[in-house]
Amino acid sequence: MSDHIKIIEVAPRDGLQNEAQFVETAIKVELIERLAAAGFQNIEAASFVSPKWVPQMADGAQVMATIQRRPGTIYSVLTPNLRGFEDALAAHADEVVIFGAASEAFSMRNINCSIAESIARFEPVAAAAKAAGLRLRGSISCALGCPYQGETPIAAVVDVAERMLRLGCDEIDIADTIGVGTAAQVTRVMHAVGEVTDLSTRVSGHFHDTYGQAIANIIAALDAGVRIFHSSVAGLGGCPYAKGATGNVATEDVLYLLRGQGLTSGIDLDAVVDIGQWMAGNLGIKAASRAGNALAAKKS
Ligand code: HMG
Ligand code: MG
Repeated sequence: MSDHIKIIEVAPRDGLQNEAQFVETAIKVELIERLAAAGFQNIEAASFVSPKWVPQMADGAQVMATIQRRPGTIYSVLTPNLRGFEDALAAHADEVVIFGAASEAFSMRNINCSIAESIARFEPVAAAAKAAGLRLRGSISCALGCPYQGETPIAAVVDVAERMLRLGCDEIDIADTIGVGTAAQVTRVMHAVGEVTDLSTRVSGHFHDTYGQAIANIIAALDAGVRIFHSSVAGLGGCPYAKGATGNVATEDVLYLLRGQGLTSGIDLDAVVDIGQWMAGNLGIKAASRAGNALAAKKS
């Protein structure tokens, strides 16, 4: 089992999409550039969704056009439909993310269509991404629970995972959108998904920390064989269509965990602590990272 962990930093997208105040393009650009300099191989940089639905992400094209790119870094963007894909292509994204759900009710609230309709909508996006030589990732929201339907049956997660794999996804995200899942559940879901694809190279854990379970859930996923995780500097984030859900697991906390486990990520924890404090300062909030705040306090 590899000791290398790929961390996808999602603060510029998942982190900022839920902020009440519009974060200036220049701040988003600086955030992405500082994250790339800290060593992230993959950064979720923008969303090409309806600005009426998610106004915070309306400047995605500008963000993508302005960032100085680091060679080798993958800059991903969310694309719910062909319109979003065309914008992603024009913006020279390296990876596009189609995002569905394992819950019908959440699918309707988030992207205004049923699960089956979403897969049909993703088909041309996936084909176009493959034809353009782009990486394709598929995100499965509410894989551990739904704000409208409660606990999600494992079969529903595996079903959407299989459909996304058939579309040609290089990677599948098992996303706990509202942060309700616990470790035993993660173990069960990951083992079931591991029956249909390779956990170590094609599956990621995307955990929100609403109930404080994200680090435990990452350990469970690591034990199951998962080697890709999403996290957000300063624990920023949430989903506008999942009331009460807090941010993603904080990147600082994940990097601190990995160091203790003897696992590598190639990311400079010290630099990430500074980025988290800087970004929280910009937003006028306290960073939601226990490790980040402790390490920052030690420095000062
Ligand atoms: P709709 O209203 O059903 O679609 O929305 P439509 O095709 O009827 O279009 C409505 C309007 O949106 C039209 O404009 C379109 O032109 C425009 P109007 O005529 O009203 O002026 N439009 C677009 N504009 C820009 N870019 C586009 C685009 N598509 C249509 N790509 C739609 C369907 C999917 C567009 C809408 O529901 C939407 O944008 N939803 C976005 C939801 C979202 O971004 N949620 C947050 C991200 S998911 C997440 O956070 C979960 C994740 O982190 C994993 C986890 O934790 O679970 C990934
Ligand atoms: Mg999320």
